[in-house]
Amino acid sequence: MNSKHGGIQSYEESFSGWLGVGEAFSFWKGRVALYAILKALGVGEGDEVILPGYTCVMDVNPIKYLGAKPVYVDIEPETFNINTDLLPEKITDRSRVIIAQHTYGYPCDMDAIIDIAASRNVAVIEDCCLALGSEYKGKLLGTFGKAAYFSMQWNKPFTTGLGGMAVTSDTGLAEKINALREDNISMPTAKEVMMLAAQLAVYRMFIYPKTTALAQTIFRYLTKKGAVVGSSSTAEFTPDMADNFFKGLSAVQARSGLRQLKKLQQNIELRRKTAQLYDEMLAEKGWTPRQYDRDVMNPVMVRYPVRIAEKTEALRQAAGAGIELGSWFESPLHPAETPLEMYNYETGLCPQAEAASRQAVNLPLHPRVSEATVRRTVEFICRFTQAD
Ligand SMILES: Cc1ncc(COP(=O)(O)O)c(C=O)c1O
Repeated sequence: MNSKHGGIQSYEESFSGWLGVGEAFSFWKGRVALYAILKALGVGEGDEVILPGYTCVMDVNPIKYLGAKPVYVDIEPETFNINTDLLPEKITDRSRVIIAQHTYGYPCDMDAIIDIAASRNVAVIEDCCLALGSEYKGKLLGTFGKAAYFSMQWNKPFTTGLGGMAVTSDTGLAEKINALREDNISMPTAKEVMMLAAQLAVYRMFIYPKTTALAQTIFRYLTKKGAVVGSSSTAEFTPDMADNFFKGLSAVQARSGLRQLKKLQQNIELRRKTAQLYDEMLAEKGWTPRQYDRDVMNPVMVRYPVRIAEKTEALRQAAGAGIELGSWFESPLHPAETPLEMYNYETGLCPQAEAASRQAVNLPLHPRVSEATVRRTVEFICRFTQAD
């Protein structure tokens, strides 16, 4: 199967060039990129993969598809990232990989993770799906681990509708990912590509902060009816791999990705500026803004997380008030409907992650968010009580 047609190669080369890594491999979604990396690393039956207990179930599926066991580590509350103090006790003889998920855009404590992983001979994969452009000690995320992966789904730092990218500077691993892709990849159907192209056009024309809540409701309804290409099919809410899961990127997505890479620096600067505005306006209202170690982290946030006591009520009111209020991760393995027992998660395993699921909402930061939107959003959120 030719997975390098129609702009794919130049998109991959532009991406790896921008990031400063050896090679980039595009896929239909971020989760497919993770699957390719895990499989290329030889992860299989009985192996263990460590990740934070505050993630999306779509991130756990590839581990289960390969017959490996997900092992969850609780998060530290400020950055919502893996608590590295708890990491060593989770490593066993069966551990093969630590997934360093950079949540909301905050970098994980990479020094600690790399040290622990090296001392126990475990590979590190960075989940950069929410952290494109973020830096740790002056170096871009995605360049620390053995490999990393990115997502370009609708609400990610930039979108190609759906989309994923696996990157690595390890030539042996790159060869294996390449071989896997050449031998096994299927390409999206003409119908999927046509629908996705139409969705991208609608997104560019109509999706603004005030219309997002309504658009999401319509989108979920149309996904159930099969009238649009949804982010996840029904089959993806179980730990069994669907036949057509291992799919490549279409030319339409690659062209869209190339266009957005050209505007990436502007996107990053706007996100940083808007996050700063939230910091300032929340502080004016007496709220404690984001706390993180500014000497080592330079995050590009995908959304701006805040914790509130009345989350359910705030989400209910936001939809009616035209406020774009997001909610990740609604369960330690988002979404709330995930059957946790099928994914080796027992309630109580990660208390900090469970508290974050009950309290965290997120505010928009994408390039269409104006200063007036920030002000309206802050006015709205400050009607509620900030939670610790
Ligand atoms: C942290 C994180 N990693 C990975 C993914 C999977 O990305 P994709 O939807 O492109 O498969 C998600 C899902 O949205 C996510 O939130």
